[in-house]
Amino acid sequence: MQLLAANWKMFKGPREAREFCAAFVPPEGVEAVLCPAFAALQAAVESGHTVFAQNVHWADEGAYTGEVSAPMLLELGVAGAIVGHSERRQYFGETDETVARRTRAALEHGLRVIGCVGESAEERHTGQTELVLKVMVEAIADAAGGRDGLVIAYEPVWAIGTGEMATPEMAREAHALIKGLLDVPVLYGGSVKPDTAPVMLAEEGIDGALVGGASLDVESFTAICQAAAEISSSS
Ligand code: PGA
Repeated sequence: MQLLAANWKMFKGPREAREFCAAFVPPEGVEAVLCPAFAALQAAVESGHTVFAQNVHWADEGAYTGEVSAPMLLELGVAGAIVGHSERRQYFGETDETVARRTRAALEHGLRVIGCVGESAEERHTGQTELVLKVMVEAIADAAGGRDGLVIAYEPVWAIGTGEMATPEMAREAHALIKGLLDVPVLYGGSVKPDTAPVMLAEEGIDGALVGGASLDVESFTAICQAAAEISSSS
């Protein structure tokens, strides 16, 4: 079943999250997951939709100002977390090591994890894509240690929020590389829109999408989920 995850980033407080959730009806045949900011998690959970956080700390509790732990998320009814998003890596100093620690702790607690990997434009242009993906995926794979609940999201950094989606061929290659390292579902992320989703989601080895900008609007996220549902029902 294709997995469609809505990464709302730092958009939507509880009121807007509630409005979205009330209007959102995921189509049959796909799994839709909403990933609100911490402040809107409870509102989204109360709606009955499946909810993931956008990050999770490795310790159960402690002096870690600004962080949220896996037991706290579980107490709220949250089912999983995104880990290692490129915005975390770029702006908040997240490294393969911290991503690995977060992944391990979340999976140990029974949270599902969407672990994000992806090359920058410079890395792609200098021929380092394979190496970069390998290092990132292996860090997550080692941390997961074969535990259930892990999904990888391939998100080329240059495609995030730019309107410039990777070509299906680029995604197919990257997904094949990732799947050669780790046998888990792999989502594509980076400028997925309702008009581009059908082509991308039909590509071999693409098990769903992590959607940022286009997930903020209930109609456009629903359209992306519908595209996935149609592909699943015709295959
Ligand atoms: P985008 O974001 O769809 O706005 O490019 C994707 C993401 O950051 O997960």
